[in-house]
Amino acid sequence: MEYNNKRGGEEPIPCDLKEGRKYSWCTCGHSENQPFCDGGHNDNNGSPNLRFEAAETGTAYLCTCKETKNPPYCDGSHNA
Ligand code: FES
Repeated sequence: MEYNNKRGGEEPIPCDLKEGRKYSWCTCGHSENQPFCDGGHNDNNGSPNLRFEAAETGTAYLCTCKETKNPPYCDGSHNA
């Protein structure tokens, strides 16, 4: 099955994460609450979210273009 994914934005979003807390990062680009999943992948045949646990407390730049090779973190791929 091929997913109907798209870019969720053009730049990463700085997010305040808490160590040990779990988050759902949007992989499909359809969420209205970038960079996090809002369930929109279900209505748009998008790929499911990625659950991850923050390794440390602080600001993390989470990818919105969905091209990163290091999800959910921005790796600069939006500039490519
Ligand atoms: S809305 Fe994109 S992964 Fe859920």
